[in-house]
Amino acid sequence: MLERFQFGTPIKTGAVVEEISISNKELPFFEIKKEENKIHFLYSLGDKDKIYGLGEQIRGINKRGWTYTSYCADEGYHTEGRHSLYGAHNFLIINGKDTFLVFFDYPGKIIFDLGYTHANEIEITMEYADMDCYIITEDIEHGKLEKLVNDFRHLIGRSYIPPLWAFGYQQSRWGYKNEKDILEVMQKHREQKIPLDAIYLDIDYMERFKDFTIHPERFPDMKKLVETLKKEHIHLVPIIDAGVKVEKGYSVYEEGVEKGYFCEGEEGIFTAGVWPGFVHFTDFMNPEASKWFGNQYKTLFEMGIEGFWNDMNEPSMFYSLEGLKEVCEVASQMDWENFDLNHFLTLQAKVNVIANKEEDHKHFYHNIEGQKIPHNKVHNLYGYYMTRAAKMAMEEYDEKKRMLLFSRSSYIGMHRYGGIWTGDNKSWWSHIKLLVQMMPSLNMCGFLYTGADIAGFSDDVTQDLMARWMAFTIFVPLMRNHSEVGARRQEVYQFDNCKEISNFIKFRYRLIPFLYSEFIKSALWNQMYMKPLSFSFENDEMACSVEDEILLGDTLLLAPVYEQNALGRYIYLPEDMKEVRLKADGKIEQKVVEKGHHYLEVPEEELVFFIRKNKMLILGEEAEWTDEKIYEKLTIIAYIEDKCEYVLYQDDGISTEYEKPEHFKKICVERNENGEIVVTENGGFSDIHILE
Ligand code: GLC
Repeated sequence: MLERFQFGTPIKTGAVVEEISISNKELPFFEIKKEENKIHFLYSLGDKDKIYGLGEQIRGINKRGWTYTSYCADEGYHTEGRHSLYGAHNFLIINGKDTFLVFFDYPGKIIFDLGYTHANEIEITMEYADMDCYIITEDIEHGKLEKLVNDFRHLIGRSYIPPLWAFGYQQSRWGYKNEKDILEVMQKHREQKIPLDAIYLDIDYMERFKDFTIHPERFPDMKKLVETLKKEHIHLVPIIDAGVKVEKGYSVYEEGVEKGYFCEGEEGIFTAGVWPGFVHFTDFMNPEASKWFGNQYKTLFEMGIEGFWNDMNEPSMFYSLEGLKEVCEVASQMDWENFDLNHFLTLQAKVNVIANKEEDHKHFYHNIEGQKIPHNKVHNLYGYYMTRAAKMAMEEYDEKKRMLLFSRSSYIGMHRYGGIWTGDNKSWWSHIKLLVQMMPSLNMCGFLYTGADIAGFSDDVTQDLMARWMAFTIFVPLMRNHSEVGARRQEVYQFDNCKEISNFIKFRYRLIPFLYSEFIKSALWNQMYMKPLSFSFENDEMACSVEDEILLGDTLLLAPVYEQNALGRYIYLPEDMKEVRLKADGKIEQKVVEKGHHYLEVPEEELVFFIRKNKMLILGEEAEWTDEKIYEKLTIIAYIEDKCEYVLYQDDGISTEYEKPEHFKKICVERNENGEIVVTENGGFSDIHILE
């Protein structure tokens, strides 16, 4: 059952696509406390209750035992002690004495104290009592958790589907500063036969970091560069930042000012500092301004560009003009002749607090249907609306063609317009595990096209870390290697173990027919691409507490290694499964492993995963980029006792007619009287063979 409860006068966010009438009953499960403007929702937990949800957040799959803040943050330290990351995904699934999903459609700041202050109490606090709250419960015995997600996803609408090429391997780095650097990346991948589908442009391609401009000396002919790369089947994907540079003569700035499209501050247009220096922020809450910003992308569509990443859209601010003035004021009043440690510390303290200051959010405004609304009340919508603006422009440009689009900041609802990447992680072992834990939570709220910067954005990667990152992320939809200027170079060809890492990437391309099928079916049928073990093994207490293994659909179990110098890792298998091992020489070994606890040896150059009982994995052919060739010959690896069927999804990878019946190709295999596995239905693929 799905019910909607309304408090006060909510701001419309567009998170939900179904019109649900407002219930006049009392909100179930929660006790409500009001104090001045604030509202608190209290729930008492059973000892063994588990809490899932919150999408992009730190810590485990089970979120119990910490306090999380939903307030989109430019947070470069994804450590246990933090409370917010870039997205705000305000939903929880409680599983225990009661089982339900709750979604607070509220675009301001929310604090989720999930058994932190009091071990058995949830307290959810909002600054203003204006919101829609949705509660979903299920009246079924088994499969409740999956059904809750399914109903929730139905409520919030179908997830964004990128083109097929976006499932290929992608290379990025902040620091590719000109055409030559980009061409070198292309050549090195092609020469060394490391598959590749996209190269990214970070802020250096712009002229002094001005959105929708191209640096004339560094990239003298962008259109030609796009064409050159396309001949090699590589897509160029530029970054777009939220802030528009303040500069006389820059047409985007001038037009935005003239038309009144930027957010107003207390006195005139609000000004902050990001990469270009002073910037203004487009008021995406104003539909006209939003459309105008979206239209700017067309300059790049015209050059043949078909993919973008939207950044700094929390929005991130290194300082506000007011904050900077305060620092200057303090500095100017200092007694420079007697400048001592105290002076220095005072100045340092002042500088340290001006970035992303919440107080600043109260002093700039959005125009929502003629009303002036302070930013803090709608902060969590900013990246979402920026990305929606880009997606609308893409659709207007060519509604029949899919483009690639993902964002750093997000809110539920944005999952319909684009994907997300998980921001500035680090070349740390713990960040592999963090991604394993975050993927299911993101999938629960519709963010399917997602992934982390492979091998870590900042800090220096080691070659074993690189290999282990790859071994997990070949299963992740957005597979992009990205790093920061100044960090160790981490293109695959920089390492002594390049061949071993390339083997993993090559295997990724063989996995694409399966991964793409899993992805599209998850999007179309509102399912999870990656899910916690507890969602499929709800009565197995051990499986329900596993934090570092996940399922990919109903077919695979993934248990990556995330410790340096480890020979392998401990695993728990909730049922007998087939272990599949890709050896360094490309050979695939298989064996059945019994249910229970095991130590799994995984040398750094090998890849190991598991297939569930009566399930099959369909592999395609190796390729250097995503194209038809992948489907020419299919190989089935199956763990079959009697029989199994799989729906392989295949379309042209670019158009938007997802639901044509001919895209869904049924493949069936069974074990015959002689004990051999045979294909009984081939889905129209003539070249299928079974690997035993
Ligand atoms: C931000 C982004 C990062 C990008 C950098 C420079 O830190 O998260 O991915 O490389 O800005 O544009």
